[in-house]
Amino acid sequence: MTDRYAVIGHPVAHSKSPRIHAAFARNTGEDLVYEALLAPLDGFAGTVRAFRETGGRGLNVTVPFKLEAFALADDVTDRAREAGAVNTLRFDGAHVLGDNTDGAGLVGDIRLRLGITLAAKSVLLLGAGGAARGVLGPLLAERPAALFIVNRTVAKAHALARQFEAHGPVRAGAYADLAGRSFDVVINATSASLAGEALPLPPGLYAPNALAYDMVYGDVPTRFLADARAAGAATLADGLGMLVAQAAESFLLWRGVRPDTRPVIAALRP
Ligand code: ATR
Repeated sequence: MTDRYAVIGHPVAHSKSPRIHAAFARNTGEDLVYEALLAPLDGFAGTVRAFRETGGRGLNVTVPFKLEAFALADDVTDRAREAGAVNTLRFDGAHVLGDNTDGAGLVGDIRLRLGITLAAKSVLLLGAGGAARGVLGPLLAERPAALFIVNRTVAKAHALARQFEAHGPVRAGAYADLAGRSFDVVINATSASLAGEALPLPPGLYAPNALAYDMVYGDVPTRFLADARAAGAATLADGLGMLVAQAAESFLLWRGVRPDTRPVIAALRP
């Protein structure tokens, strides 16, 4: 029986994951099928059970089930525990492993595709919600010189910095604290781009050769990236790279092979 994988969510029809994983399977020669699985809002566990009983070997988990996936797993990886959410499940016989590949996807996209190292760089992370929390551990593991978190609700930035202080040189503050400072890498983990809203970023924020990375993507450049270009950021990247790279990390967890993200990103670009 061909191994089955799927993305599970509600809604799920819009997900690009089936296209991404079909391309990975083609490009690596792995024999698998990958579907989209719509679970009822009150039926996550039952849908997972039925999928496992019919040959399911792993799932990507999307909104709104990442916490339920965490609870369903028998074991979770350290990075999933730190992120507080599970986006990947692997079924090994009766055992369920929960993982989170978002941070590894972001870091992998920056290092492997963009060819930019984070080591010894100054990094600014904008936002302190679930998206920010999901990438902090892997970002700090790259050993930046310093990582500064700012958030509109400043207390949330401080709480995140406290949670990760054992992992590296992380500090937190308000947008107003950015005046007069510059960074090599600026990562937008807020949802402001989705609403087309501007973030209150001061002039001079981007150091020479700086990278501006928006974890969100769209058919046109996001407001954050348009502003970053105008402010002189040297390299711009949107969340499509991260989306494909987190999928590649899930594929690696399931199949032991890390697919090349480049051709898949190119095929998905409008
Ligand atoms: P996600 O899971 O995408 O991180 P979230 O947990 O709701 O979603 O977090 C959204 C993040 O975007 C938060 O950091 C939020 O700031 P607050 O914590 O102050 O709410 C940030 N955000 C959303 N809209 C914003 C805006 N217009 N300006 C600044 N920050 C914004």
